[in-house]
Amino acid sequence: MANDASAVSDTRSPHSLADPFSPPADSALWRKNFLVGAATASYQIEGAVDEDGRLPSIWDTFSTTPGKVLAGDTGAVACDHYHRWEADVDMLVSLGLEGYRLSIAWPRVMDAAGLPNRKGLDFYKRLLNRLKEKGITTFVTLYHWDLPQHLEDRGGWLNRDTAYRFADYADLMSRELAGTVDAWATLNEPWCSAFLGYGNGHHAPGLADVGFATQAMHHLLLAHGLAMPVLRTNDPASQKGIVANIGRGTPNSDSTADRRAAHLFEVQHNAWILDPLLKGAYPRDLFELWPGTEPLMLDGDMQTVSAPLDFLGINYYFRTNVSSDGAHGFRDVPLEGVERTQMGWEVFPDGLRDLLTGFKSTYHNLPPIYITENGMASDDKVIDGHVDDTQRISFLKRHLAAVDQAIKAGVEIRGYFLWSLMDNFEWAFGYERRFGVVHVDYSTQKRTVKRSAELVAKFLKERKARV
Ligand code: FCB
Repeated sequence: MANDASAVSDTRSPHSLADPFSPPADSALWRKNFLVGAATASYQIEGAVDEDGRLPSIWDTFSTTPGKVLAGDTGAVACDHYHRWEADVDMLVSLGLEGYRLSIAWPRVMDAAGLPNRKGLDFYKRLLNRLKEKGITTFVTLYHWDLPQHLEDRGGWLNRDTAYRFADYADLMSRELAGTVDAWATLNEPWCSAFLGYGNGHHAPGLADVGFATQAMHHLLLAHGLAMPVLRTNDPASQKGIVANIGRGTPNSDSTADRRAAHLFEVQHNAWILDPLLKGAYPRDLFELWPGTEPLMLDGDMQTVSAPLDFLGINYYFRTNVSSDGAHGFRDVPLEGVERTQMGWEVFPDGLRDLLTGFKSTYHNLPPIYITENGMASDDKVIDGHVDDTQRISFLKRHLAAVDQAIKAGVEIRGYFLWSLMDNFEWAFGYERRFGVVHVDYSTQKRTVKRSAELVAKFLKERKARV
């Protein structure tokens, strides 16, 4: 891990503690309309899983199934945000963060018959009203993976009907919450829902069949496409879009086979989602990689899926170095001697810049972009009341520089959300992996602002004070 003081000027340079955190004077990040915020997700922070009529989600089922989540952790309590939301909003405000990206737990707000659960709805109303009172720009994700278990019991995302149920849910939420939401995202990272949930079983509901993954993806994207016009009708003033995770794949050698492998990696991670959304068709290469897995679809589906977006949310974390697997696929070839995070993910800010500039040339209708998640996990400890998360400071600085470079290369990027506001339930890795800019002591629920958050706050304060 490179944490020494030998800073150089490209985005791969290690952090120097002597460096100021603030971007250079010519950085687009100084623009006051470049939104800087933090993100969370319902199941990862709320807890209170059986309070006020909340129904079980697939993550309650999965995390309580032995062997699925590290150390047997579950989201039953998480950051107890359901009860501590007021203090958490104050904390967000005190850090000077301008935007907050949260998600709504579908099983908290709708019962199995599709009727509203008032108590659950009121929670989000109070939260969003308070955020608006405080002048925070609100980004609301409708689906960040906590599918109601009763829908999974009827096939989940393998059942086309789930897409229609999602549109009903989007209808209810946008009627109830219109006016308090600045931007709606239908789905968070359909790649993870489809591939990790149905393709390799690492996430809920834990099914493992690539054919399931492509079918689940189609229904997820259909759900998105069905919800878009509903959101437009019910809440015309807000922005509407979707959030995709993107991955950089680089070839292990210059051979044609390895370059093809890197291309296929990006088809599988990026084009599988972005092509249907922005070109109205699945990439043909996907079905060369996974022969015979074309999803069942109906006429008109791709038109529904490719409804125009007001924004595209991009989540970026790392790159994967790959080589050909000798057949028609790719295999990971982890690089030695590179900087990695607590997740084992390689720190590679240039990947973010290169993907964004690549999308601009691939997709002529690329909508304005928000970086809706970026951040890293580290084994942070509170020492004398402080958390010195040096690697995260360096990570954020280099990724913000990559964003600035993409903006300078002509990509319209309107904002950046840190993942995450606070340490939380990191899915299959439970509470061990700490992604927050605020530390959470899970035995006391005490929050401790990490050094990274202090530096972001300082930059935002400086920016605000500029004339
Ligand atoms: C993303 C998820 C988010 C968080 C980060 C680390 O894939 O959207 O909930 O777990 O990874």
